[in-house]
Amino acid sequence: MKIAFIASECAPFAKTGGLGDVVGALPKALTALGHDVRVFLPLYAAINRHKFGIEPRGAMGVHMGSGEEMWLGTHESQLNDGTPVTFLEYDRFYGRRGIYGDPEEFSDNAFRFALLPKAALQWCKDMDWIPDVVHVHDWSSALGAVFLKTWDRVLSPLSQTASVLTIHNIGYAGKFDRSAMKFIGLGDEYFTPDMFEDAGRMNLLKAGIYFADAITTVSPTHAHEILGPIGGMGLAPYLNNRRGDVSGILNGVDYEDWNPETDPFIPATYSSDDMSGKAICKAVLQERFDLNFEPKMPIFGVVSRFASQKGFDLLQASLPRILESMPCQLVVLGTGDPQTEAFFSDLARRFPGRVGVFIGFSVELSHLVEAGSDFFLMPSIYEPCGLNQSYSMRYGTLPIVRATGGLDDTVHNYDEKAGTGTGFKFWDINPAALYYCVGWAVSTWFDRPGHIEKLRRAAMAQEFSWKDSAKQYVAVYEHALRNRRSGAV
Ligand code: ADP
Ligand code: GLC
Repeated sequence: MKIAFIASECAPFAKTGGLGDVVGALPKALTALGHDVRVFLPLYAAINRHKFGIEPRGAMGVHMGSGEEMWLGTHESQLNDGTPVTFLEYDRFYGRRGIYGDPEEFSDNAFRFALLPKAALQWCKDMDWIPDVVHVHDWSSALGAVFLKTWDRVLSPLSQTASVLTIHNIGYAGKFDRSAMKFIGLGDEYFTPDMFEDAGRMNLLKAGIYFADAITTVSPTHAHEILGPIGGMGLAPYLNNRRGDVSGILNGVDYEDWNPETDPFIPATYSSDDMSGKAICKAVLQERFDLNFEPKMPIFGVVSRFASQKGFDLLQASLPRILESMPCQLVVLGTGDPQTEAFFSDLARRFPGRVGVFIGFSVELSHLVEAGSDFFLMPSIYEPCGLNQSYSMRYGTLPIVRATGGLDDTVHNYDEKAGTGTGFKFWDINPAALYYCVGWAVSTWFDRPGHIEKLRRAAMAQEFSWKDSAKQYVAVYEHALRNRRSGAV
């Protein structure tokens, strides 16, 4: 199959979270299965053209609904397996710092992320590279699924091309003022509650749900959750209209990037047979984060966007008490919500030598935190899949998670009698539940070190293979193509 990925993030070029990791990895797994895959990404100012060998190609013209013809530059590079990536250059939209904002959301995001899928589809037409499937991701490329059904509908060479929308994060729907409908090129007949309209505004994810030939999210449990009123965050009725076309496929891990045996970002490599390197990583982590050098003290790590989704209310309500009553250390790497940033900076001042904080985005430090910590905290309120807990497991760092979405699917809870499991789970959205779960981990650390060893081995042996997930995506692509051909959607 020819498969076009259209997305606003793709590691290693541009990433704010797991979406970038997925779009940087799944195309490679599909290429490895023999498919012809190409990724489309905006050429953001922050992307280092030289470092990534991004070469200019031709210019192209794109018509948006406002009537103006927009001229874009196209550029090309590859993922590290050779899968081609086309970069769309349009400085007025993408030639500034930040992907979605800096730090405030850009006011023209509806326009920026309408141009992205339209230009990608135009490229396919111009180059006569006609994809069987266009795979779009979240609100920021969801309009790709809409354009395929509304633009030159009959004459278009893309009239047989099916679309798949993957919902990575239903919490970000892409809601904008309806005035942007004109730029998108669709009239009032599309501004209805089942398509674009959402309480008087336009909702791009909702439109994608209506028009896509198949819809996925990133874990089986979350696929179930989004069909309900809480998990669906207002979109459940529309997802239920498409129930037969909704499925959940677990994210894999790119073990070329996340492997303690070969990781170039960490001071010493290690494997489950020889964990001595992990002790070195722990010592370096303590040094880098100004923690007391105490090899026996358990370290809890956090690497996260500072967003309410990730359970920071629970952390803020329980961490002071945890630190006062339990022997442990904490390292935090993250950026986002200013109040959360201030909380952690303050916590580091209150608990010198025990809490280390780095406010910012650093790929290198994210690997060090995974490798040097003993436990990884992820008390998410909702988590479509989550990648950090899976990375942690491979690094022998036991995740402490709230049992939601992909966290529930990927972590096996510790069984104290049998000494089995790959992490520690709690269920209630409540600071006490988190507090006791951390306490359970700390007491296991000191009282049952043999169990910690067993859990570590079991966690490191987990395999979240992109190959398996890619095969499931191919089945979804086939489903989407059947829908497209039969005109079912
Ligand atoms: P989400 O996509 O909701 O942010 P995931 O767990 O799926 O959550 O993916 C998060 C990704 O972003 C991981 O690769 C993680 O290492 C990375 N990440 C998050 N915050 C930072 C940060 N401050 N510095 C470096 N990497 C980060
Ligand atoms: C989202 C979700 C996260 C998921 C990631 C990649 O940002 O919050 O759970 O792992 O996308 O699919």
